[in-house]
Amino acid sequence: MADISSLARQTNDLDAFWLPFTPNRAFKRAPRLIAGAKDLHYFTPDGRAVLDGLAGLWCTNAGHNRDPIVAAIQRQAAELDYSPAFHFAYPKSFELASRVAALAPADLNRVFFCNSGSEAIDTALKIALAYHNVRGEGARTRLIGRERGYHGVGFGGISVGGIVNNRKFFGTLLAGVDHLPATYSREHQAFTKGEPQWGAHLADELERIVALHGASTIAAVIVEPMAGSTGVLPPPKGYLARLRTICDRHGILLIFDEVITGFGRLGHAFAAERYGVTPDLLCFAKGITSGAVPMGGVIARENVYDAFMRGPEHAIELFHGYTYSAHPLACAAGLASLDLYRDEGLFERAKSLESRYADAAMTLKGLPGVLDIRTVGLAAGVDLASRPDAVGERGYEAMERAFHDEDLVIRITGDTLAIAPPLIVSEGQIGEIFAKVGRVIRAVM
Ligand SMILES: Cc1ncc(COP(=O)(O)O)c(C=O)c1O
Repeated sequence: MADISSLARQTNDLDAFWLPFTPNRAFKRAPRLIAGAKDLHYFTPDGRAVLDGLAGLWCTNAGHNRDPIVAAIQRQAAELDYSPAFHFAYPKSFELASRVAALAPADLNRVFFCNSGSEAIDTALKIALAYHNVRGEGARTRLIGRERGYHGVGFGGISVGGIVNNRKFFGTLLAGVDHLPATYSREHQAFTKGEPQWGAHLADELERIVALHGASTIAAVIVEPMAGSTGVLPPPKGYLARLRTICDRHGILLIFDEVITGFGRLGHAFAAERYGVTPDLLCFAKGITSGAVPMGGVIARENVYDAFMRGPEHAIELFHGYTYSAHPLACAAGLASLDLYRDEGLFERAKSLESRYADAAMTLKGLPGVLDIRTVGLAAGVDLASRPDAVGERGYEAMERAFHDEDLVIRITGDTLAIAPPLIVSEGQIGEIFAKVGRVIRAVM
C-alpha cells in the first residue's frame, strides 16, 4: 500500500514540475493554484472564485466545464479511447472536418488536424513548402513572418515569429526567413477602438522583401490577423487585403495564424471573414475544443490540397502527421464546442458586445501609467509604463495582484496586460473585470 505521508509530500512538493513560460522561482514562492472551474470562474484549492479574464489562455471561448462538452468527452472516453491516425480514421473526425470547413470562408475546405497551435504552424509552413515543391517550384523555400508575431514555439514558429526572447536562446532557427515590420505605432494609433486607420502601407514592405530576394524564392507569408500575444494589435484598415494582393501578384501563399482569432474572438468564426480576406492556409487551435482537449489544425484551400493529389493512389501524398491527429477525445470535444457556439450564438454575441467591451476598456484611459489601450472583438491590450530598469516587473506585479487581491486572471506580456474573457461574459461581468483591472493598475503605479 502507498505510504500516505510520502503521497502528501509529493502532492505538496512544487520542485519537480518545470512550468512553461513562467518564472519558476517567483511562482513557487507564491503559487497561483487553480483546482476547479465553471463558466466564467476558476476555483482555487482554498475555495476562492476567480474571474477568468483570459478565457483560459485565449481558448475556453464557451466558458469552463460546460456540461455538453464535459458529457461529450465522458461518452467518448468510454466509447473509443484511441484509433490510429495514419491509414485509419475515426468517423467523427470527418464530421468535425466538415463542420470546420463549413465555418471557414470560400474554398478553405480541407482540414488537417494536429494537437496545438505550434503544431498547426509547423504543419502550415511544411504544407506551403511542399506545395511549391510538388508543383515544380521547389526553389520557393523562403518564409516571411512579421515582427511582434507569435506563432507558437516549434522551430518553424519561432523562426517566423518576431519576439526576441522566443528566438535568441535557440540557435540559428530556420534558414531563409525574413520579417515584415510590425503594424503597431503608438504615435499614430494610440487609444484606437478596433482597426486603426494608419498602417495599411506597411503591407507594401512585402514588395521590398520580394525585390530583395526574388518572388521565385518565397514560399509563404504568415501573419496573425490580430497579433494577440504581443498585446492585442488589430490590423490597420486595409492591411490584410493589401498583403493578399501582393501575395497573389507574386504566387506567394498567404497563411493566417488564427489560433487566437478563430472561433469567435473577433465576432466571427474566423478573422478571415471579418476582414473579407481569404488566406491559402488557415491555422486554428484553442477554441476548436473550447480548450477542453488539446487540438489544432490547418484549413487549406482546395487548390492547395489538389496539388498534392496527383501521384499514384497507393502513395502517401504528404509525409506529415501526428500520433494524436484527430484524437477521438478532441473530435468529441470539438463537435460539442461547435454545437455550443452555434446554439448559443456565441460568435454573434462577441460581435454584439464589442462596442460595450471597447468602452469598458477605454475607461482605463487616463489612469496613471496607462500609455495605450487597444480593443477588437472581445480582446483588449493595455500598455503600462515600465519601471525604470525593470521592464516587465510592473506587469508581473499586476498579474499577481489581480489574482491574489482582485480574484481575476489576466495575461501579461512584459508590461502589457491582455484581457479577453470567454464569449459567454455578461455585460455586468465586463464592467466588473475592467473595474478590477483599474484597481490593479492604481495599485502597481
Ligand atoms: C497566434 C498563436 N499562434 C500559435 C500559438 C501556439 O499555440 P500552442 O500554445 O497551442 O502551441 C499561440 C498560442 O498562444 C498563438 O497565440
